[in-house]
Amino acid sequence: MRPAVTDDVRTLFEWRNLSEIVRLSSSQVEVDWDSHQAWFTAALANRDQHLINVVVIGGRDAGLVRFDRAYGNPEQATISAYLLPGETGQGAGYKAIMTGNRRAVEAWDDFYEVIAHVRSDNARGVRSFQKAGFVECRDEQIAGHRTLSIDRGTILQQLVPS
Ligand SMILES: CC(C)(COP(=O)(O)OP(=O)(O)OC[C@H]1O[C@@H](n2cnc3c(N)ncnc32)[C@H](O)[C@@H]1OP(=O)(O)O)[C@@H](O)C(=O)NCCC(=O)NCCS
Repeated sequence: MRPAVTDDVRTLFEWRNLSEIVRLSSSQVEVDWDSHQAWFTAALANRDQHLINVVVIGGRDAGLVRFDRAYGNPEQATISAYLLPGETGQGAGYKAIMTGNRRAVEAWDDFYEVIAHVRSDNARGVRSFQKAGFVECRDEQIAGHRTLSIDRGTILQQLVPS
């Protein structure tokens, strides 16, 4: 896993708009180039709120694990994760999530919980977060989604598989 850099802007735009990724995203809509570019530039410039990692499998860029913190609520980070269609189904997803969590703990010493909102029909997504140590969280609900969370202490106790 490596931090995203400026040059990833086009690749991440193309990945984000792949039909498989759009279908499983919360909004289920494609993003346009101008909005993506503006969002990505702002996100890279604000590492206190956004942490964007590119998943690397066998030397290939293969997906994304991203953490976002809302302004004024640094204690909680929301995670988004995906692998490219050719890279799924081989057990890499939960490892990428666990590696990302560890990076977030290392990057931010003032956050205590990672939250995942996964579409209710995305059984594999839910299972991957559970394998990474997330548990169902009843506090924060979004229609059509399951909400899972993991706390900082649990992340710190985990052995991240290689
Ligand atoms: C979610 C994602 C990252 C998981 O990565 P992955 O490497 O494909 O996942 P795995 O192959 O390790 O499978 C994870 C678990 O789900 C299980 N699983 C696979 N397909 C499943 C299905 N249709 N229903 C239920 N469980 C399923 C696997 O058996 C595995 O559990 P196990 O090890 O206990 O058997 C990846 O599939 C992906 O990028 N999906 C599209 C984007 C997405 O859904 N993101 C999550 C929401 S933010």
